[in-house]
Amino acid sequence: MKTILAITALLVSTTVCADELLFPNSDFESGTLDGWTVQGEAFQVQPTKGDNTAARNRESANIQGTWWIGGYEKYNGKEGKPGAIAGDALTGTLTSQEFTIKRPYITFRIGAGNLPDDVGVRLLVDNESIELATGVDEETMVVHSSDVRAYVGRTARLQVFDNATGGWGHINVDDFRGTDIPVRDTSKDFAIDDAISPSGYPGIEYDQPLRPQFHFMSKKNWLNDPNGMVYDGEKYHLFFQHNPKGTGWGNMTWGHATSLDMVHWKQGDHALLPYRVDGRAGTIFSGTAVIDHNNSLGKQVGDTKTMVAFFTFAAKPKFYQAMAYSTDGGETWTYWNEGRAVVENQGFDNGERDPKVFWHEPSQQWVMLLWVQKDPGRVRWFTSKNLVDWEFASDLMRDWAFECMDLVFLKVDGDENNTKCLIYDASFDYEIGSFDGQKFIAETEALSIVRGNYYAAQTFNQTPDDRAVQIGWMRGGPDSAKLFGVPHNQQMGFPVELSLKTTPKGIRLFCWPIKEIDSLVEQTHELDEVTLGAGVNALDDIKDLDLVDLEVSFSPGDAEQVVFDLPRVSLRYDVKKQVLYHSGIDNNGAPREDICIDKLVPREGKVSLRLLVDRLTVEAYAFGGATFAAHYIHPKHGPKKLSIHSVGGTAKIHELSVRELKSAWEF
Ligand code: FRU
Repeated sequence: MKTILAITALLVSTTVCADELLFPNSDFESGTLDGWTVQGEAFQVQPTKGDNTAARNRESANIQGTWWIGGYEKYNGKEGKPGAIAGDALTGTLTSQEFTIKRPYITFRIGAGNLPDDVGVRLLVDNESIELATGVDEETMVVHSSDVRAYVGRTARLQVFDNATGGWGHINVDDFRGTDIPVRDTSKDFAIDDAISPSGYPGIEYDQPLRPQFHFMSKKNWLNDPNGMVYDGEKYHLFFQHNPKGTGWGNMTWGHATSLDMVHWKQGDHALLPYRVDGRAGTIFSGTAVIDHNNSLGKQVGDTKTMVAFFTFAAKPKFYQAMAYSTDGGETWTYWNEGRAVVENQGFDNGERDPKVFWHEPSQQWVMLLWVQKDPGRVRWFTSKNLVDWEFASDLMRDWAFECMDLVFLKVDGDENNTKCLIYDASFDYEIGSFDGQKFIAETEALSIVRGNYYAAQTFNQTPDDRAVQIGWMRGGPDSAKLFGVPHNQQMGFPVELSLKTTPKGIRLFCWPIKEIDSLVEQTHELDEVTLGAGVNALDDIKDLDLVDLEVSFSPGDAEQVVFDLPRVSLRYDVKKQVLYHSGIDNNGAPREDICIDKLVPREGKVSLRLLVDRLTVEAYAFGGATFAAHYIHPKHGPKKLSIHSVGGTAKIHELSVRELKSAWEF
């Protein structure tokens, strides 16, 4: 048995190794263009020597050997210096000598512009020109094999071409070989070619020691923006940007989870998968879902209202906005008009994206808000009666606005008769104003409320009681799948309720963890006045904590620091600097101290904070949610002992409540 296995292994490795140059210098390792003919400007100073993309602080080019074709580079070992650039504007071709195709695959490395027809590699066989590949919109080359079985025995030439002059208008290639089997790096591909399974990982549990216990994340693999947040009359739906094929970003698909209370979530099968239409492959970027309460689309089946999702179809060369609908409460979906545009690209930016759609009761119509341009920032409003035909309404020009626009109507100080419109973007810069069904009129300047890892948040559409509940993606931090023994990477922040309050500075936004967190409370420890001084630890009586919801109000007094040593994270308020720091983590996984909330100025001598600590994160809300922050922590570099104490003087705690939470995953 052993011998047979050994022979098979040998056979496989011989097959894999079977490759050869297509002709001398098809790998550019002579350091010259021998065997190649240059036309135009794009390939004049080539081949380039060494990892020049890295030399100019971009991603590594992933080269083979020393020499390669880097269309943006201008260092050929003689002229210029590593990292010198030729830019995107040059065009031209690089055509090889003739060679005979002997093997079924031509395998090579390719990177830079993903611009089919404009930059790439083609095969010239007699009068035929066969486009083999374009780049991947990254300098890093990936290995690609083209199937040339139909041409074995024929004489051919390769042509590297660059007709593009704008962004990503260059091509990187290296190491052309004939191989017996295809070699394929799918990590940068749209996954449409090798079908994504819609399965939402039924076999995977939440019991890994460092799995977040009261924050939503995908059971497995990568997650980013929340999408399509909507209440269907019974359940909350949270769709999310998801890579079903790995723990890094890619293959954008809408994952799907539902909940009765926005705290306990059940992940189901993926809802919207990448598709191909009219010869264009694309993935599903961010967007909204609405419940078609008045059957505007005319697709309702029985009593179940249609759920309609609007998303960005991320396809080359230009993104557009498309729609899908579900007549069974979000279980199965149909792409409207096979996924063609409901809103065509508006012509400002190829990457316009992330439609927000909502029902505007006063004007009795559907409204769409869409980011369409950067520098100058342009946000476009559309209106529709039937969810299919969208009319331009107005443009809002705002330089702060970028990606994932959202808006929500909020009562000021709870007053039914005083509703304002809050509009914000992915980084949660916001303005408060009014919306008349056509345009937004600002009543504040641009403001901000959040610090740290919080991005692309959106609010639930059509919530009961008109509550505005928001969930944001905790963007950044290290890859938890690589570091912490969990099958996922990235998570959401804890849901917050938004409200508008009158403050001495005018009307301002407040964000506060939703009250449903109470369902997780197992035990509450409450303390009144405690003076923190030498040897005093306000948590002395608490032996063990894991998941924490802590509220405190304290006067810093003459202390230098007030320190909160909690499970896995230490926070310290630096009294002089008026900054709250926490023990954090950098994007590579190294522990570091980080600013949790800056400009934390006591009010009437007091600081009030709420802290949520989960396995990989801390969230901090100051002064009832006037400011908040969401951060990743290093779960293995926390304090040794639970403690709240002062350093360098005496501080006073006025109120302290420590709520021990249980996992949201125990149903
Ligand atoms: C924001 C974003 C969106 C886009 C999505 C793609 O994080 O860039 O603009 O739709 O992510 O995953």
